[in-house]
Amino acid sequence: MAGKRGALIVLEGVDKAGKTTQCKKLVQALQQSGQSVEMMRFPDRTTIIGQLINAYLEKKSDLEDHVVHLLFSANRWEMVKKLEQGTTLVVDRYAFSGAAFTSAKPGFCLDWCKKPDVGLPKPDLVMFLQLSPAQAALRGQFGEERYETDDFQRTVQQKFDQLMKDPSVNWQEIDASQSIEDVHREITTHSLNTINIAQDLPLGELWK
Ligand code: TMP
Repeated sequence: MAGKRGALIVLEGVDKAGKTTQCKKLVQALQQSGQSVEMMRFPDRTTIIGQLINAYLEKKSDLEDHVVHLLFSANRWEMVKKLEQGTTLVVDRYAFSGAAFTSAKPGFCLDWCKKPDVGLPKPDLVMFLQLSPAQAALRGQFGEERYETDDFQRTVQQKFDQLMKDPSVNWQEIDASQSIEDVHREITTHSLNTINIAQDLPLGELWK
C-alpha cells in the first residue's frame, strides 16, 4: 500500500559478536519472505569520507580523535537520503558504535560523542549482540585494526551498557553466545514484528 515505509533495523555489539554474519542472514531471510530490504554498514568505506576512516582504522594515517569522531558521523549523514528511501534497511553498526568507541577514549564523555548524530533517522529497532569478553576470546584473536584490543573492547562494552539504559531507543539484547541459527531465528522474529509496527508510524529522529 502506498505511503507505507520500511523499517530501520540496526545491529550493534562489540567485535566478534557476529553482527555482519547476522546482518547478511537477516537480509536473505527478509528477502525470501517477500520484503524489500537492503543492507548497509557503517563505516561505509567506499565514500571519500569512508576512505579517510579506512586509512585511520588500518593505521595508515593518524587523525586527531575529535576529527575522526566527526568523520564517522559525517559518514552516516552522507547516507541519510538512502536511509529515508522507504525500503527496510538492515544496518551493521550505527551512531551507537560512534558514541561507544570514541567515549572509550580518554577525555571524551558520552554526551559530547552523541551530539553530532542527534537528528539522524532513528532506528525502529536496535539489536545488541551480547557476548562476554571471555566468550569473545574463544572466537580467536583480534585483527590488526585500531581498537581491536581486549582492554579497549571492555571499555566499549561499558559505554554500550550506558547507552542501552536510554529508554528513548528500542533496544533488544540478544544472547550472541547461542548458535548462529538460534541467534538468527531470534533476530528474524524481532525484525518481522518491527517491520509490521513501523510501517504505520513516522520515522523518528535519534536522540532528540
Ligand atoms: P567494522 O569492523 O564493523 O568495519 O568497524 C570498524 C571499526 O570502527 C570498529 O572498531 C568500530 C569503529 N567505529 C567507530 O569507532 N565509530 C563509528 O561510528 C563506527 C560506525 C565504527
